[in-house]
Amino acid sequence: MPKIIFMEPDGSRRDLEVPVGTSLMQAAVQNGVEGIVGECGGSCMCATCHVLVDEAGLARLPPKSDSEDEMLEFSVGERHPGSRLGCQITVTAELDGLTVRVPG
Ligand code: FES
Repeated sequence: MPKIIFMEPDGSRRDLEVPVGTSLMQAAVQNGVEGIVGECGGSCMCATCHVLVDEAGLARLPPKSDSEDEMLEFSVGERHPGSRLGCQITVTAELDGLTVRVPG
């Protein structure tokens, strides 16, 4: 299973083995990652699954949809160039080793 690394708001590192096809939000909620709520269940309607991805990581992800981009305006924590919604990113084998930061 691909490994996804979550950096929690307090700096704690969580290494998760995530089944392919799971969203980053689902993986975070199922494993109790601090700061990811997933209130809308992954419908791109709440922005409580805000994660920050560095430049190298962004290059590995599909681009944002317009609805993800709009919803990020309401995100928890300040928006950054690397802001994404965890529910809109599906884990694939190619994402093994991806690191995302949960904004505080
Ligand atoms: S879980 Fe609601 S926007 Fe991602």
